Amino acid sequence: MCGIVGYIGHREAYPIILKGLKRLEYRGYDSAGIALYDGTDIKLSKTKGKVADLETKLEQEISTSGSLGIGHTRWATHGVPNDVNSHPHYSNSGDLVIIHNGIIENYESLKKELIKRGYTFKSDTDTEVLVNLIEDVKKNENTKLGKAVQIALNQVVGAYAIAVFDKNKPNEIVVARLGSPLAIGIGEDEFFIASDASPFIEYTKNAIYLEDEEMAVVRRHKGVKIRKIKDDSLVDPYVQALKLNLEQIEKGGYDHFMLKEIYEQPNAILDTFRGRLLTNEAIIKMAGVEDNMKKFLNANRIIVVACGTSWHAGLVSEYIFEDLARIPVEVEYASEFRYRNPIITENDVVIAISQSGETADTLAAIKLAKSKGAFVFGVCNVVGSSIARETHAGAYTHAGPEIGVASTKAFTTQITVLTLIALRLARAKGTISSSDYRHHLIELELIPAKVKKALESDAYVKTVAAIYKDVHNFLYLGRGYNFPVALEGALKLKEISYIHAEGYPAAEMKHGPIALIDENMPIVVIATKKGHYEKVVSNIQEIKSRKGKIIGIVTEGDQQVKALADHVIEVPETIESLTPLLTTIPLQLLSYHIALMLGKNVDQPRNLAKAVTVE
Ligand code: F6R
Repeated sequence: MCGIVGYIGHREAYPIILKGLKRLEYRGYDSAGIALYDGTDIKLSKTKGKVADLETKLEQEISTSGSLGIGHTRWATHGVPNDVNSHPHYSNSGDLVIIHNGIIENYESLKKELIKRGYTFKSDTDTEVLVNLIEDVKKNENTKLGKAVQIALNQVVGAYAIAVFDKNKPNEIVVARLGSPLAIGIGEDEFFIASDASPFIEYTKNAIYLEDEEMAVVRRHKGVKIRKIKDDSLVDPYVQALKLNLEQIEKGGYDHFMLKEIYEQPNAILDTFRGRLLTNEAIIKMAGVEDNMKKFLNANRIIVVACGTSWHAGLVSEYIFEDLARIPVEVEYASEFRYRNPIITENDVVIAISQSGETADTLAAIKLAKSKGAFVFGVCNVVGSSIARETHAGAYTHAGPEIGVASTKAFTTQITVLTLIALRLARAKGTISSSDYRHHLIELELIPAKVKKALESDAYVKTVAAIYKDVHNFLYLGRGYNFPVALEGALKLKEISYIHAEGYPAAEMKHGPIALIDENMPIVVIATKKGHYEKVVSNIQEIKSRKGKIIGIVTEGDQQVKALADHVIEVPETIESLTPLLTTIPLQLLSYHIALMLGKNVDQPRNLAKAVTVE
């Protein structure tokens, strides 16, 4: 986790770095800091808290001038969030200053060695160890900063994206990457460093994404020289043209990114379809699938690996793939899969789902599956992310940047992509009739408009939120395709409102959770017409007879549940496999409104970060 930003060029570095940190706060926000070179010395200010807290403190503490600087917004790993543990960190001499995203696993043994050599440490961080290791190498080997960084990193076990500079050589920044993302924006005689391209998008559309085990020396007026950290070989820089624009990463009139992203879903799903869903021709076109059709058709099974919300999308896909394409599916938490010695064969297709494309556990699961010969297909949102590059092939969700920490449009677009894949495979395998196939395509095409309709429940959802905002527990129930939606609804509520919530398959309720039900327990039940409706209605009866408060998510016009429930929120009708794309919407809105009414930080809930790049 953590966001890093750096600048070297002809402008004032401070405003660029500050704005960049604000854009990267989704990666961590428990402390922040900036170091600037003002022409004679390094000026550094850092603090526990958010970038806004840093801004106030920094402008009182130091001068903000200088055209070289680095900044950091932190998600604590080693050492509690406090001022001292915040980045940047100085080396003992005060000559070097560093920012770091990642974890140095062998920091304790390195620290012991450095202490023996007389180094002292102010913080509890692994990063301060790294900067002193670099300093130690630099002195002992009498080398330039770039070489010292390279030698030091060869002694390090762990993950990192770093940026470091030396006040005695204020014309260069040295950066390196292993396991954490790092982009270099190439401007007109200026360079930007960042965890992703959002901090520099208004200055340049040209960027280099460092690969794992690469480092670069970025020199004022001279350019970027990239090397492999291990063998010192030079790498030809590959400069990519960025498609991201500024509007996509700003709030666009909404109070929160989360709300903006909830409302973006009709368009995000349309973008996911674009060029792929050709309803009139009855064709689904996905290059990553077409090019690897044999692998998919010969697959004994599909193993889905993912975390959190992406794992929930994977669970929905289990129903879709098995139902439509008749391929057995296993859905695995990447964090469990990677340590379980799983049985994987060359005839397995592994689908890795990740919004950020940077989740450490998912990345490790992919590497494991590849090492066992499996074909790995990625479903990612962030273009050029580590997972997108590590997988053999893939399909982007094209949801646009998701900044709110709670995933919303990523979830629905992941389900959309997975549905398209399942339909394409079903067609190729002949497990779906042509009329059923066409029917699915037509229904799919109607989904963006239906999501828009589902969003019209917003005002009513808000009134329901006001009634239940002060409860301490929630239950979410669903069956079949909507069981994963129940899990997702509960996760959304937990993570942004800090109210305890559990998702359960509706029928499992009587095997335990039913004991929790009394007149104080709100239970959100997904009870759409398509999908075990009568069974779910029976579950609702069971809740009612125990006086539980029922919030039903129902199909438009439903009367039966309406007669039983305390509140009903309607979504348009669709075919069963597509109901998750609609039933999710009111659950996202419910968690948003409750969190807001409780005064929580909706976009940046405590303890979380957008990209979990540590295991
Ligand atoms: C929940 C949420 C997380 C992520 C999880 C995986 O709202 O955002 O549970 O879904 O950390 O992240 P990605 O999809 O980036 O791999």
